[in-house]
Amino acid sequence: MQLGRLKLPNRYFLAPLAGVSDWPFRLLCREMGAAIAHTEMISSHGLVHGGDQTLSYLERPVDERPFAIQVFGHDADVLAAGARVAVEQYGPIDAVDINMGCPVRKVCCHGAGAAMLKDPSVVEEAVRKVVDAVQPLPVTVKLRAGWDEEHRNAPEAARACEHGGAVAVGLHPRTRAQMYRGRADWDLIRRTKEAVKISVWGSGDLFTAEAARRMLRETGADAARIARGACGYPWIFRELLALERGETPPEVTLHEWRETILRHVDLAVADKKGLYRLTRPVDAPQPRPSRGHPRHALSDDEAERAAVRELRKHLLWYTRGRRGGLAFRRIAPELHTVSDVRRALDRFFPEDGSVPPEVRDEPVSSRELTADDA
Ligand SMILES: Cc1cc2nc3c(=O)[nH]c(=O)nc-3n(C[C@H](O)[C@H](O)[C@H](O)COP(=O)(O)O)c2cc1C
Repeated sequence: MQLGRLKLPNRYFLAPLAGVSDWPFRLLCREMGAAIAHTEMISSHGLVHGGDQTLSYLERPVDERPFAIQVFGHDADVLAAGARVAVEQYGPIDAVDINMGCPVRKVCCHGAGAAMLKDPSVVEEAVRKVVDAVQPLPVTVKLRAGWDEEHRNAPEAARACEHGGAVAVGLHPRTRAQMYRGRADWDLIRRTKEAVKISVWGSGDLFTAEAARRMLRETGADAARIARGACGYPWIFRELLALERGETPPEVTLHEWRETILRHVDLAVADKKGLYRLTRPVDAPQPRPSRGHPRHALSDDEAERAAVRELRKHLLWYTRGRRGGLAFRRIAPELHTVSDVRRALDRFFPEDGSVPPEVRDEPVSSRELTADDA
């Protein structure tokens, strides 16, 4: 599997996920076999103006390679300049993805994200400028089906990306108007693949390894970008690789499941303590003097609490579909520290595999999400 000149070990990628695909989660997914895992979307404007929050999205262990970022913005020149700041000041960076799929109003109202799809000439210009700015790095583009039902122009947008110099497009085949509702239209992935010579990475409703492989078979896509299917279940990548080899995927044991959750918590705490904090080179864009509260380094205590607070969504995803998950969900707002999490795991999912009386009557639902569960 090629990404420009990069050789990737397989065709299963972690999709960019705002608020989710930070380095701890990317690390867990990579360890399970994801060939590449993009950062969440990073504001090109923030990169050009040296924002602290923006910089935090670039933090990662030095051995996260390939390291791939995703940028967004409404202006082709700012997109290119932002990508260049990241590559020149905060490298090594191996690949750049441009977000043309984000449906949220505060992004689209400025003409960024999925709003770019309204005009394929804007798409082509933005891609060309970013390609020029970061060459020789491979540039890819994340697309949606189109703006709305009347404008399902992903194949045309993909051609514009190809003309602009992108080496691949990722397609989430829902329109901006759909947000995350309804079913992803995998047939549009097939038609987009037929419309271009560059690689097409499919996504949309890949909630299980079987679904991702079915999407690849039915569409001819070159790779599968797993998004919600990896949330709370990084093992999906291990399953995908096992199926690829014709093997039965190994079970996720209770011990492994608990250890992974606790490791995720520890990594998140290390992140909040600033383990991989980046220092701004003197010639990099500097932040404007802050008008609000100055940012301060967190104490160990604050870091732990911030990490557990932000990790709550992951904890709910991990426990989804397991007996004990409903009870866990009920007490989740009371989790503040690493030992709170450990105690909650011991209470509802004890290491010895026994089922505590308080969760005995809980129904066990399937892990599979519906499209509207995001
Ligand atoms: C919480 C969340 C955050 C997301 N953030 C991004 C993002 O930063 N950049 C992006 O290109 N797509 C983003 N997406 C879209 C996903 O990458 C993916 O295309 C989409 O969820 C469809 O795949 P799925 O149905 O398998 O989840 C996000 C999706 C979710 C649910």
